[in-house]
Amino acid sequence: KMNIHRELWDETRVRNSLPKRSDHAHKGDFGRALIIGGSRTMPGAPILTTRACLRAGAGLTTLATPLSVATAAASQAPEAMVHPLANEHEQEEWMSSVVSVLESNRFDGIAIGPGIGRDQRFSIFDMFSGFQGPVIMDADAIHNVAYEKERLKEASFPVVLTPHPGEMAVLTGETVENVEQDRFHVAKAFAMDFGVYLVLKGRYTIVTAPDGKQWINPTGNPSLAKGGSGDILTGAILAFCLQHESIQEALCNAVYIHGYVADQLVECGASPMGLVASDLINEWPYAFR
Ligand code: APR
Ligand code: MG
Repeated sequence: KMNIHRELWDETRVRNSLPKRSDHAHKGDFGRALIIGGSRTMPGAPILTTRACLRAGAGLTTLATPLSVATAAASQAPEAMVHPLANEHEQEEWMSSVVSVLESNRFDGIAIGPGIGRDQRFSIFDMFSGFQGPVIMDADAIHNVAYEKERLKEASFPVVLTPHPGEMAVLTGETVENVEQDRFHVAKAFAMDFGVYLVLKGRYTIVTAPDGKQWINPTGNPSLAKGGSGDILTGAILAFCLQHESIQEALCNAVYIHGYVADQLVECGASPMGLVASDLINEWPYAFR
């Protein structure tokens, strides 16, 4: 008999599991986060992820991004550290510049994908071999991992995939319609087959653990149906993974608050049409409270 575990992740659960900061805290307690992304035509995505990661409480946040984006990042995310990477079109150089960032620094968790583009093919498992902290794969990193998805099974690190329905279809090789018709089942089958945490986005985002347990998120509204909202979710997920004992709780709380803030702003009179991702992250401190 199939064991079905599906529960609503509600406000009480968030209140009970969101970490509290001790008065004696220092930045070393909240993790060193690395974000890898960006390309000439998508400079803003990794910057949004970086700003979201900072807003969601990571101790130290570093962005590794091609030089063309690094200059903008220095002014748009001044709290972050920035490591310039090789141009994204120089595939080999780009990969080895990522490896040297990893070799010369210590990180507790990584998010890869926002704004990275689809022109290049890279192997996440080659670049991150031996890494032990959680790795969040989003956006075009999902397109890359789809080519080597069998390697997910032997990863040295816990993997979190954050596909929207289109990216989920790329992972499974199905159509978007099939994914949307059977979201619970598609997510559960993939998470269990490949041993990953999976955040299947969209209205009523589903978080699935590698053992097949699932949680449904009730928050969020169409103000999130806009480029950039996925990028900030990835930043929150990375920061929360570094501050929670449980990856599952980190994912559920990040997804919940990401939607909750959008709901609060609309309740306070903002139009879903006009809200953008940067508006949302500026409200996160009040929402966490
Ligand atoms: N209700 C609730 N939540 C929503 C809604 C809605 N109507 N619409 C969107 N969201 C949430 C999703 O659940 C998800 O958390 O907003 C976020 C959107 O994430 P993405 O789809 O990843 O969007 P984003 O990355 O910002 O922009 C689109 O995805 O298809 C790629 O390459 C494309 O870069 C582009 C990017
Ligand atoms: Mg996205």
